[in-house]
Order: sequence, then structure tokens, then C-alpha cells
Amino acid sequence: MIAVKIGGSVITRKDTYRHFLPDICRNIVRSLFPFRDELVVLHGGGSFGHILAKEANLPADLNERTKRYFSRIHNDVLLLNSKINDIMAEEGFNPVSIPTSLFFGEKGLNVRPYRKFLESGFNPVGMGDIVLSGKTVKIISADDIMLKLSKEFNPRLVIFFTDVDGIYSDDPKKNPEARLLPTIDSDINFKAVQNDVTGGMKHKYEIIKKISHHADRITVINGKYPERLKDLGSERFIGTVIENGR
Ligand SMILES: Nc1ncnc2c1ncn2[C@@H]1O[C@H](COP(=O)(O)OP(=O)(O)OP(=O)(O)O)[C@@H](O)[C@H]1O
Ligand SMILES: [Mg+2]
Repeated sequence: MIAVKIGGSVITRKDTYRHFLPDICRNIVRSLFPFRDELVVLHGGGSFGHILAKEANLPADLNERTKRYFSRIHNDVLLLNSKINDIMAEEGFNPVSIPTSLFFGEKGLNVRPYRKFLESGFNPVGMGDIVLSGKTVKIISADDIMLKLSKEFNPRLVIFFTDVDGIYSDDPKKNPEARLLPTIDSDINFKAVQNDVTGGMKHKYEIIKKISHHADRITVINGKYPERLKDLGSERFIGTVIENGR
């Protein structure tokens, strides 16, 4: 199985509410065509999720205010999901939406729908979403779901498409001296970068460390240049590769 996370940062304009970037999404989808027989896709919320989620100040108790946010955010991430699924269907995939909030219960996310549709030759498409956990409303990110799926399915490859070239020695948007790290291959190297990873990448980085025990290979790549995927494994590849750390 191959699992892909399409960052909301790359297929939406993060500062403009519900602004989708269809051409970038289509290019990413096309780059995945060789994997379509064993592919699971997850996507972030981007400006279909993050803007309202920030405003809602989650996690928070379930009440009239958070219920309204729940409905709107869940609806918005499904809207983004259907745009992605449309493109996937047009490009020859068999996408099936797995809405996270519907399959989230006391034991966390139920992965059975992923297994069922994957075994039948579909491409399950899950998403970062708002969920109800007891009486608490909170966000489950697509990065979190990636860890859960990796534990269950031991993917041979996990791909994170994001809006920068990979994992850097520091935030490349803030520090022009930041260096792209082509590989992070052991615990020692993980420790070496730990202190300089911030923001959205910090959580992803922590998750990747954990996923590295369950997947053969993980890569972080710029979704604006998905054709780089073809070079994976060669000297020319531009991105970060993390090999299995079992
Ligand atoms: N050391 C680092 N290496 C790479 N990016 C970093 C680093 N530190 C911080 N960042 C920031 O992390 C951002 C990527 O994380 P972000 O959560 O925004 O994207 P995403 O996970 O792909 O999208 P989404 O969360 O919407 O699905 C980059 O745009 C970059 O500015
Ligand atoms: Mg993120």
C-alpha cells in the first residue's frame, strides 16, 4: 500500500477562505497514476479548515457555538474533498470519500472502511476533519490519520506533498540560510534537526518519526513540483527521504 497526504497548504490558498487550486491538485493526482492500484489519499483542510478552526479555538466543549463551527467546518472539508475526488475520478482513479468525523469513536478512528475499500480496488480518500470525542469538539489532522493508517497497513511508501521542498534545517520561509535535508536516516539525525523545526512542520516531523517504524520509506516533497517523484531513489531527487527505522 502507498499512502499520500496532500497538504492543504499546497492545494488551497491558505489565507483565503475556501480558495481551491485545481491545477496544482490535478498535477499531483496525475503524478500518482502509477500507484493507483494500491493508493490511499489523505488531505489537509487548508483554507477550507484552518481559518474557521482557528476562530473556533479548539479543542472545546460541545455547546451551541461549537456545534455551529462543527457543522460548517465539516461541511467545508467535505467540499474540498469532493473537489479532489472529482479530479481523481476524471484522471482514472476510483476515489471513495471516508469522512473522518463519521468514523471517529471512543477508540479513535475506525480504519475498517479504509481496509474494505482498499481491498476492493478503490482509492479511499480521508481528510483532516473536526470530530466529536465524548463531549469535546476537536481537530484530527490528516498527519495524525497517516500515523494511524501506517500502524495498520505498514505502507511501502508514504508521501507528504507540502508547499516547500522538504524538511529543512530551519523554517525556509523565515530563514534564507535554511538547508534542505535530503535524508533523515536515524535517530541521531532526527535529534539533530528537532530544535529547528517549527509551525506546521513540527507536528508533521514528530509524526514522521513515529511513522518511520511502520513504513518502508517516507518522503516529503513539494506539491508544486510533483514530477520530482519520478526521481525518488536517484541522486537527482529534490525532497527529504526518511528510511525505515524499525
Ligand atoms: N524545518 C522546516 N522545514 C520545512 N518547513 C518548515 C520547517 N519549519 C517550519 N516549516 C513550515 O512548515 C510549513 C508546512 O507545514 P503546513 O502545516 O503549513 O503544511 P501542510 O501540512 O502541507 O498543510 P496542511 O496542514 O494545510 O495540510 C512550510 O510552509 C514551512 O514554512
Ligand atoms: Mg500541516
